Amino acid sequence: MKTALITGGARGIGAAISESLLKNHKMQIVVWGRNEDDLQKLKKNLSDFGTIHIKSVDVGDKASLDAGLAWLEAEGLKIDVLVNNAGTNADDKLLLMEDDTILNHIMVNAMAPLRLIRALSPGMIERGYGRIANLSSAWGSFHEGLGPAAYGITKAFLNAITITSAAELPECVKVNSVCPGWVQTSMGGPDAPKTPAEGADTPVWLTTLPENGPTGGFFRERKPINW
Ligand SMILES: NC(=O)c1ccc[n+]([C@@H]2O[C@H](COP(=O)([O-])OP(=O)(O)OC[C@H]3O[C@@H](n4cnc5c(N)ncnc54)[C@H](OP(=O)(O)O)[C@@H]3O)[C@@H](O)[C@H]2O)c1
Repeated sequence: MKTALITGGARGIGAAISESLLKNHKMQIVVWGRNEDDLQKLKKNLSDFGTIHIKSVDVGDKASLDAGLAWLEAEGLKIDVLVNNAGTNADDKLLLMEDDTILNHIMVNAMAPLRLIRALSPGMIERGYGRIANLSSAWGSFHEGLGPAAYGITKAFLNAITITSAAELPECVKVNSVCPGWVQTSMGGPDAPKTPAEGADTPVWLTTLPENGPTGGFFRERKPINW
């Protein structure tokens, strides 16, 4: 049985990814989030369908992320599938933003995924299997004109991490970026056309790619898109 770690997996698209990996793909799931109530609620709703481990981790805080990694080690949880889903988007103009806000975007949207890839890929290589999905956005695409402010810049940073880490890792560990589309969550807002389950479809597909599947790509609706 594969074990998947989903960051920010207790609500929004992350919760839909968690649910699908557990119910449809029979994975053991490890869900990180910051809100203990959301984590407990998800565990209660899903534990009839398989094994779910929860842990409160703020991926934007290095000490908290390191504590999360130490907890994985102590629990003997070996991660085969990593979903870098946690993301943040402050609605402000880049030139009006405080340094701290920009730095928080860098930490949550880009450095946390990089730190997790760096920490977990050696185990994946050792076991000869790894699948990593980085939740990016069309707003991180230069081709699509980049989205607003620190969000767009740090999703472009995440895309660059996807390309570079895929090039450094062996083919058995696949790293891809994904735009889930415009999804009805607290980030996407109530007017978004997609449900969280629909937004989860391409990320989940990337975590279950076959041996000859792509790596180092950027996908939406299961199709490649431009960087
Ligand atoms: N919704 C869209 O239309 C859309 C479009 C393109 C891309 N995306 C991307 O898809 C991903 C999920 O988005 P969503 O729409 O589900 O957003 P959301 O409803 O705002 O949820 C964001 C998730 O990220 C977590 N998170 C934020 N900061 C964190 C931190 N410092 N440490 C740990 N977790 C943190 C949140 O956890 P807490 O519960 O702890 O706050 C929450 O689970 C994001 O990467 C987003 O950029 C979304």
